[in-house]
Amino acid sequence: MKIERAAVVGAGAMGSGIAHVLALKGISVALIEASEAFAKKAVEGISSNLDRQIKKGVIDSSAKDKALSKIQTAADLGAAKNAQIVIEAVPEKIEIKKDVFTRLNSLCSQEAILATNTSSISITRIAAFTRRPKNVIGMHFMNPVPVMKLVEIIRGLETSDETYQIVKDLTLFLGKTPAMSLDFPGFISNRVLMPMINEACFALMEGLSTKEDIDTVMKLGMNHPMGPLELADFIGLDVCLDILNVLFEGFGDSKYRPCPLLKQMVASGRLGRKTKRGFYDYV
Ligand SMILES: NC(=O)c1ccc[n+]([C@@H]2O[C@H](COP(=O)([O-])OP(=O)(O)OC[C@H]3O[C@@H](n4cnc5c(N)ncnc54)[C@H](O)[C@@H]3O)[C@@H](O)[C@H]2O)c1
Repeated sequence: MKIERAAVVGAGAMGSGIAHVLALKGISVALIEASEAFAKKAVEGISSNLDRQIKKGVIDSSAKDKALSKIQTAADLGAAKNAQIVIEAVPEKIEIKKDVFTRLNSLCSQEAILATNTSSISITRIAAFTRRPKNVIGMHFMNPVPVMKLVEIIRGLETSDETYQIVKDLTLFLGKTPAMSLDFPGFISNRVLMPMINEACFALMEGLSTKEDIDTVMKLGMNHPMGPLELADFIGLDVCLDILNVLFEGFGDSKYRPCPLLKQMVASGRLGRKTKRGFYDYV
């Protein structure tokens, strides 16, 4: 099945980026937000990100106009009715996702694929909110979506081979590289990344070294573009803590226990770049 009509639910950081890359490839997108005003704001953001790509010579200005003409905004989930694929990017809260998937299940055609961009919630659990678990799949884009090449595709317990193949083909069509994961806590990306960030927090808490030296070792020694503490600030310390809790509870293994220093930072409201203070200051 060639995807020509998509819907994206939630037009925050991720949903806007997903709509951007779909529309650039000529796919019609219904961009659905909590209100028309939020949706309009998201389109303004997409427009300025397209301008940035024009400046960098990645696209020309006619591509921008064509892409914007492919995006229709809406404040009602009903706009997803004719989509062949719906990609959900609402906040990482199970009750919100449950509401969206329950409603999508009754709105969309039986063949429609219902994908989620969740970072850490079980795809199998989300699929159980619908009566079509074989059509439900994880499509985990990375931030910022127009720049990052990876899409982690997560197969829930019931996801069909057909659904997986369509989503893999779509990922390649978007110019991205797919990587398949089964549906276990953290998938591949956070299963491997979060223990490293957590260990860096323990190292700092125990006074093994300074934050700068911990990051320098990983940047210069391991060729990582960012050190783990810098990266944690970039992701958001609250998001890191939430994901570590998902790993800890999901596997019941003490190796995923969140570092007390990380918990303390979150409790104090130091969440990283978004609050201008995390392990580092951003003023
Ligand atoms: N930010 C990241 O780096 C990142 C990376 C990968 C995956 N994710 C995942 O992507 C999802 C979205 O994350 P985000 O960072 O874009 O969040 P965000 O808070 O920036 O955006 C979420 C948007 O959803 C909207 N929304 C809320 N309820 C809605 C509803 N019922 N219908 C339509 N819109 C609704 C909100 O108004 C908001 O604009 C989450 O599941 C998150 O875990 C985030």
